[in-house]
Amino acid sequence: MQATVSNRPILVYGNQALRKRAKPVTVVSPELKRLAEDMLESMYESNGIGLAAPQVGESVRLIVVDVSGGEGKEKQPLVLFNPEILSSKGETVAEEGCLSVPGVWADVTRPEIITLRAMDRDGKPFELKGIDGILARCIQHEIDHLEGVLFVDKISSTDRLLNEAKLKKMARQAK
Ligand code: NI
Repeated sequence: MQATVSNRPILVYGNQALRKRAKPVTVVSPELKRLAEDMLESMYESNGIGLAAPQVGESVRLIVVDVSGGEGKEKQPLVLFNPEILSSKGETVAEEGCLSVPGVWADVTRPEIITLRAMDRDGKPFELKGIDGILARCIQHEIDHLEGVLFVDKISSTDRLLNEAKLKKMARQAK
């Protein structure tokens, strides 16, 4: 089962590509820039706020994020190559979902404020300090994807139990 998008189908829970550690980017080639653009397109079409390259079957440390708020709002796409959390503090709980785990939403505990290092879409390194709110949460969720980690790995055992049947069904259909 795959979500319906035009050019880059999003892989669903149970697909082993989602469980691999993604490879670092050395040079932001034209192909990787294109991949980032394609990922943004797939993300917007699916009404997502973030997408990681492993979700489209590419084992590359690349994530795209836009938490600006959807239709009618000005888009604020972020393209992050080799994103890395340098420091974090606090703790916050909020509900998450994932384009690769359709139909499942559950609370996840994460650090509240992060400092991030990454390369932009032109390969230029930069740092972002004091990121919080939904942007901090989304970036952490997407970086987890680069480690082969899904948000459902981090939910409570109660939520896990509640969603067990859905997850099993997805995993069966992914094979
Ligand atoms: Ni996700």
